[in-house]
Amino acid sequence: AATTAAEKGKKRYPGEAKGFVEEMRFVAMKLHTKDQAKEGEKEPQGQPLARWEPSVEGYLRFLVDSKLVYDTLERIVDKAAFPEYFGTTDFSYTYAMLWLFVLDAEFKNTGLERSERLAKDLEWFKEQGHAIPEPSSPGITYAQYVEELSEKDPPAFICHFYNTYFAHSAGGRMIGRKVAEKILNGKELEFYKWEGELSQLLQNVRDKLNRVAENWSREEKDHCLEETEKSFKFSGEILRLVLS
Ligand code: HEM
Repeated sequence: AATTAAEKGKKRYPGEAKGFVEEMRFVAMKLHTKDQAKEGEKEPQGQPLARWEPSVEGYLRFLVDSKLVYDTLERIVDKAAFPEYFGTTDFSYTYAMLWLFVLDAEFKNTGLERSERLAKDLEWFKEQGHAIPEPSSPGITYAQYVEELSEKDPPAFICHFYNTYFAHSAGGRMIGRKVAEKILNGKELEFYKWEGELSQLLQNVRDKLNRVAENWSREEKDHCLEETEKSFKFSGEILRLVLS
């Protein structure tokens, strides 16, 4: 069939044929260091995971700050259907209403939620006699940032939503296993358990994300992808608490 000039000149984005999640994944994988993941392109920095020497105190700081971020994401998605959620935003009311409706309908109760599980884990640490710290600057900063995005920048918000939940299901679990071996006698925390088949839960969310992004312009997609670096920066700072 004849191709129009417009089609010929159309730029192809890596992963595009499979859907937008594949585009987000492609960008994220390149931001890993070469020792973190096969597809990583960044030079390794600091100690490889295998040589980490975590402390319970540092790990608790990581769990507390992670919980603040999950609490925030899950509260945003949960309250999305309620109009009182509209704060002072100058963005079109109708557009905001539609977006919040989408968030509520698609991203509530995905089975990937981590907040309640982290609450149980912190309770367990408390029973073991550990003091639970207050959230610290990396978690507070990130939570505030995603809260702001949720109100004014849906594509950027979705980037953080995707990276936070999917990173935890991949590298996050490897980290959890290593840390548990070293400092928790191998105890598997609730943070690393999912009800049902994780691969299926992830696939359901991929399908929803792909559907939402189908309505985005190329500019909105690019804007979402560009946010990946910030997601790595903020999450990386929280991750470093494990070694603090
Ligand atoms: C996937 C490791 C940090 C985002 C992965 C994978 C590994 C990995 C092994 C799976 C690759 C594959 O499917 O072949 C790590 C390690 C990290 C780390 C060791 C730090 C020590 C991060 C951070 C983010 C992130 C900070 C972003 C906030 C992702 C995403 C995926 C991924 C989005 C794709 C998951 C999927 O397709 O289901 N990571 N990662 N990772 N990682 Fe990381």
